[in-house]
Amino acid sequence: MIKVDISNVWGEIALPDLLALEKDVAAAHNTLMQGDGAGNDFLGWLKLPAEKPTEEMLRIQAAAERIRSDSDVFVVIGIGGSYLGPRAAIELLQGPNHNIGKGKGNPQIFFAGNGLSTRHWNELCRLLENKDFSIAIISKSGTTTEPAIATRALREILERKYGPEGAKARTYAITDPAKGALRQMATEEGWETFVIPPNVGGRFSVLTAVGLLPMAVAGIDIAAVMKGAYNCKEAYDLRSFENPVWQYAAVRNLLYRRGKAIELFESFEPGFKMFGGWWQQLFGESEGKDGKGLFPVTAEFTADLHSLGQMIQQGKRNIFETMVRFDAPEDRYTIGSDDKDLDGLNYLTGKNLDFVDEKAYLGTVAAHVDGGVPVITMDMGALDDAKLGEMFYFLELCCGVSAYMLGVNPFNQPGVEFYKRNMFQLLGKPGYETK
Ligand code: PA5
Repeated sequence: MIKVDISNVWGEIALPDLLALEKDVAAAHNTLMQGDGAGNDFLGWLKLPAEKPTEEMLRIQAAAERIRSDSDVFVVIGIGGSYLGPRAAIELLQGPNHNIGKGKGNPQIFFAGNGLSTRHWNELCRLLENKDFSIAIISKSGTTTEPAIATRALREILERKYGPEGAKARTYAITDPAKGALRQMATEEGWETFVIPPNVGGRFSVLTAVGLLPMAVAGIDIAAVMKGAYNCKEAYDLRSFENPVWQYAAVRNLLYRRGKAIELFESFEPGFKMFGGWWQQLFGESEGKDGKGLFPVTAEFTADLHSLGQMIQQGKRNIFETMVRFDAPEDRYTIGSDDKDLDGLNYLTGKNLDFVDEKAYLGTVAAHVDGGVPVITMDMGALDDAKLGEMFYFLELCCGVSAYMLGVNPFNQPGVEFYKRNMFQLLGKPGYETK
């Protein structure tokens, strides 16, 4: 079970204040589980974790095997909730450099359609030169501009390279089971498709084919991911302050009430950056509405201690941190000795790198708490495929409870449309003419 340590928040809040929130957190949790709150037609994610592989998962595994054997590169097209989850999963488990040295049998995985940069597009084209590749188009609506443009462009390359039939066999679509432009396109073109259930919103979709197909292509055991999520469901449904879901949701809510405006979600793992990005969307899009919400920011330590550290330590006191910790892997590096000791590091000879990491973590927490920044620690334990599934489910649950405590609908994102409307007007999209 994930452990939430709140011992470093007491400078800012007091235990009786937290206990006084019991009714609120219980009500929010009940609302979520009973399905009688705002946005309750988007609660399908609660039922996604699976004890055994479902038919859809078996089809995903079979497609992933095909892609692994016929492709040097797998391009995953999508944005927001149709992009961040798979990238977060792969980078957390396999590191940010996971593509190096990969090819057929274990393809490289690149992401497209998550922006509009010509440089990024040109780079992708170079990366695809002389490579066999397949694509997965992920879009629930099928009309999101960024992935739609990437889809059109990549289909052109595929068809030039493999002809219409070859391109068809290398194109996979993940979308709504019945509605939307992508569903229609997939049906007309005869692509293999996987489903985003209508009652699962983008940012809660990582345990559908959205996350599972790219994970399986990366060689991640998706049955273990789903079982990890399934096995923790009961424990995280506990309605008491012993539940880490309650601890996290209630403490961040209390800190918000005390004037904190920014939550920094961070880890000492470089592979965590995109997982932080997934969390950032999950909480940002779920809570940032009606003039409310904590601004979610992610950081990677120790690297960002050399950039954000000054701000955290002595800047405006409106921040708190959630520090995510993992057990060190078994394969450990031991620091060697040096006769000259010009770098002055011999005092660490014989110590493991993770020993230094642990002291850096403890030193950072002590410094930040001294500086007036409360720190929640989330101890994930050992990181593996099952733990990843647990982390996704746990944080989704925390988000649902936390957003209901805040009094907002966790499952809509009306604000995201505003930039699109302006962009469409400027582009001259039919139906968006300037009035
Ligand atoms: O969480 C969400 O709902 C959004 O981030 C969407 O996933 C994102 O806008 C992409 O939408 P779609 O999957 O329809 O292309």
